[in-house]
Amino acid sequence: MILDLLRSRFELAVSEFVDDVSEYIDLVRYSQDVRFGDYQANIAMPLAKRLSRKPREVADEIISRLRIDDICDSVEVAGAGFINIVLRDSFLAECLCKVLADVDRMGIEAVKKPKKFVVDYSGPNVAKPMHVGHLRSTVLGNALTNILRFRGHSVVTDNHLGDWGTQFGMIIFGYKNYLDADLYCRQPVEELSRIYRFVRGKIDAGDQEVAANVLAETAKLHDGNADNLKIWHEVMPYSMNEIDLIYRRLGITFDYTLGESFYHPMLSEVVDDLIGRGIARETDGAIGIFFDGSDTPMLIRKKDGAYLYGTTDIATILYRMREFKPDVILYLTDFRQSLHFEQLFKTARMMGINEVEFAHVKFGAVLGEDGKPFKTRSGDTVGLNGLLDEAEKRALEIVKSNDRSKLSDDNCNEVAKSIGIGGIIYADLSQNRESDYIFSYDKMLAMNGNTAAYMQYAYARVRSIFAKGNIDVKKFRKEVGTDGFKPELKADAERMLAKEILKFGDAIDFAIKDYRPNLLTAYLFELANKYSTFFEQCPVLRAENELTRNSRLLLCDLTATTLKKGLELLGIKTVERM
Ligand code: ARG
Repeated sequence: MILDLLRSRFELAVSEFVDDVSEYIDLVRYSQDVRFGDYQANIAMPLAKRLSRKPREVADEIISRLRIDDICDSVEVAGAGFINIVLRDSFLAECLCKVLADVDRMGIEAVKKPKKFVVDYSGPNVAKPMHVGHLRSTVLGNALTNILRFRGHSVVTDNHLGDWGTQFGMIIFGYKNYLDADLYCRQPVEELSRIYRFVRGKIDAGDQEVAANVLAETAKLHDGNADNLKIWHEVMPYSMNEIDLIYRRLGITFDYTLGESFYHPMLSEVVDDLIGRGIARETDGAIGIFFDGSDTPMLIRKKDGAYLYGTTDIATILYRMREFKPDVILYLTDFRQSLHFEQLFKTARMMGINEVEFAHVKFGAVLGEDGKPFKTRSGDTVGLNGLLDEAEKRALEIVKSNDRSKLSDDNCNEVAKSIGIGGIIYADLSQNRESDYIFSYDKMLAMNGNTAAYMQYAYARVRSIFAKGNIDVKKFRKEVGTDGFKPELKADAERMLAKEILKFGDAIDFAIKDYRPNLLTAYLFELANKYSTFFEQCPVLRAENELTRNSRLLLCDLTATTLKKGLELLGIKTVERM
């Protein structure tokens, strides 16, 4: 990757001035404007300050120590001491050939020191409707997993299902008292969701008796009561089928699905141990963990003996450390759980678990077009599936109305699925994850702008060039890949596109750095735009000679493979024609 290469060259040069070069190396960047070269190093100013010297002088000296001729055409000092770098065209051409020789990985090597990650994401609450927040966690977690794996890290994915909470108390209580056996036989999922809503409605309306009964049923379940366990085992698969259907449509699988129920047998020991070690203590009859500088403890056992969400999460960490020995554990949930995870991570440290990094990869809310929290049709269990249906339906209308390649009905449906589902995924991932965002079908399915459809369309358009020219891509790659072919980059648009293609690896690293897939979507958008300009300005099939034509075809092919790979990492399919 060019940025890394430049940085390592600068590192050598700068280390002749100071020992700790890291803060300076990050100042080697893309130039914002081609007038200032392709890359820019803004190192001289801070370095000069530190050495009490003149910035331009320091810049000149850095350049004199820099060994960079093989890569760069010119390296110049400008303004207050900026170092502007113009890459050699022949170097860019060489880099493109390297990517071509390794299209599966787009020439991106695996990291030298791979880490082991556990990614804890999705975690819907079984027997309760899965909501858009869980969709967000699912989509983000899946993208991050793919991106990390692509870069060579090892990832264990674990779906921490909420399969043991009071919602089961509601279901069990409802099942025993309000179940319509006939309906349950015919439409179990609908009937279960009806009794859940019915009981929930009573509690929300302040019915103390029902609330107490629900707690009692939950406690009985946790104590291993046979009747309640039987209902739990009966109900679980129905609910899981619904959830699995969503995963299938999104194309998502997990390595492990170890829900809260899995950890239940470990909880009493965990609490005893924490008390024994003086980490947890009694407070008002309950057991809690207290933290310096905060009055809010993390409760791990209630007065009535019930364990909490946090208790399970402590047991989960212990289990994961033992089973997976990860270097990093990522948790994907919304902002509202910030305090929970802060306390959880502190607790782990108090327990002496120091050899792992924890990160709460938090995200904002999904809002409706009215700016209020987005709701799928009132508490319906099929809510999320309905949402995906709607996106596919609207995508189908769009596909049919601008079908230029005369697709068959089957093809139209296939394309509509990719665009509809892809649109939802992309809309989510293209946001800064920490902001709230507004869910809008119109925006997410737009053919223009930073959307999946735009990217998918760009991909299909590139592929159609090959189809039109009757060129077999694999054959083409072989041909240009062998006999010392050197693509030429004459036009500005060609050069710009080549540089952009070669930034893919950086985009992946930016996305990994702070777990932000939107940095990858932003890159893909930029790439598609650069391609658009190139396509407007540079005829491909009708290029003036063979070298130009093949060079342009190569740029087309690498654009397409980058878009495809990028979208694939995000969990989005491409189609060859649309
Ligand atoms: N079930 C939780 C929820 O719906 C998410 C689980 C997140 N993972 C965890 N280990 N706490 O909010």
